[in-house]
Amino acid sequence: MRTVEAKYGKYSDLYEAEKEVTMELDKALIEELIDTAVGALQYSYTPYSGFKVGAALLAKNGRIYQGCNIENAAYTPTNCAERTAFFKAVSEGVKEFDAICVVGGKDGVLTEYAAPCGVCRQVMMEFCNPETFQIILATGKERYDIYTLKELLPLGFGPADLA
Ligand code: THU
Repeated sequence: MRTVEAKYGKYSDLYEAEKEVTMELDKALIEELIDTAVGALQYSYTPYSGFKVGAALLAKNGRIYQGCNIENAAYTPTNCAERTAFFKAVSEGVKEFDAICVVGGKDGVLTEYAAPCGVCRQVMMEFCNPETFQIILATGKERYDIYTLKELLPLGFGPADLA
């Protein structure tokens, strides 16, 4: 589990404020998100790349939105698993999120982390606080790491920049 200390080492006390706003994901919840993301792989539609991705998006209301990648013969309309999960939630009026778990691999075999593409990171930036939104990359319940959106999208451009 990510702790402020693990992230900032001896400077952790300088980041006391962040500790208060970053939601502590307990192990059972992390495992549920991993299971839900893995469960989405069965629906992944990938006749062109064979690269299957599953996502599980945790909303602040406690609901978990499952997403898979959906490819298209014209290629560019392809939708990533993360965006499928976000758009399912937003299309139902849910716009506040704490975390997302992403898993993926060729033919659905999970050997390495499948990190979100740049477009998906930008969609996360639209709806999530980059300091606190947590991205769980996993190959299974035995191996995962947690990053903040800010770590994966430093100096991101978001709604606050247009305010
Ligand atoms: N893909 C995702 O679903 N999420 C990402 O963040 C990276 C890429 C999908 C899109 C495409 O169906 C396949 O992986 C290969 O790029």
